[in-house]
Amino acid sequence: MDEQLTALLAEVHHHGVEHDATKPDRLERLRNVEPDSAALLALLVRATGARTLLELGTSNGYSTVWLADAVRATGGRLTTVDTDPARSAQAATNLERAGLRPQVELRVQDAAEALRGSADAQWDMVFLDAERPAYAGYWPDLHRTLKPGGLLAVDNVVSHAEQVSEFRAIVQRTPDMTEALVPTGAGVLLIVREPDLPVHDA
Ligand SMILES: C[S@@+](CC[C@H](N)C(=O)[O-])C[C@H]1O[C@@H](n2cnc3c(N)ncnc32)[C@H](O)[C@@H]1O
Repeated sequence: MDEQLTALLAEVHHHGVEHDATKPDRLERLRNVEPDSAALLALLVRATGARTLLELGTSNGYSTVWLADAVRATGGRLTTVDTDPARSAQAATNLERAGLRPQVELRVQDAAEALRGSADAQWDMVFLDAERPAYAGYWPDLHRTLKPGGLLAVDNVVSHAEQVSEFRAIVQRTPDMTEALVPTGAGVLLIVREPDLPVHDA
């Protein structure tokens, strides 16, 4: 990553921390992912060569900029949704500043609606970072829309373990999914859909 983008990301993250410190109501906070977790996600995009990415929970675009930079390297594209138009507008500004606006489709949209409208096996990778109590309800569409071999990453799985316990239990009961918890930042749960087996000629 070049120095300019590194500096921009540091500035956006710093702004998020300062902003959030002034907001007692968590829903008014920007709640950016921890830098270490964002770096991990961006590395996973590159390592897996993911080209179709969905982010649920844009906020002001801190994680979006990380993912967009990675998806530019794979030649792919990122769709990101948030229900808050003001945050989405801030994300647009941050992406413009980073020179990454062309890589991203920004939508003011509910996560459930974005998933419902996604095709079967559409996504190589999904980053889930919205309102945790809703995650269990998203599962049928998350499972349906993730490609075989695709990766789902969920933030705050250590910091808010209780709020995602039902979701994790559902994932663990799903036969074609494997999960691993990475204790980076607030805790990132990685979930992989089993790849399709190659067909061999007899
Ligand atoms: C934790 S923040 C996302 C932080 C962002 N990923 C980052 O690291 O910069 C959660 C965001 O999800 C949005 N959100 C909450 N419920 C949502 C829903 N049902 N659909 C889409 N976005 C939602 C909120 O407006 C908020 O901006």
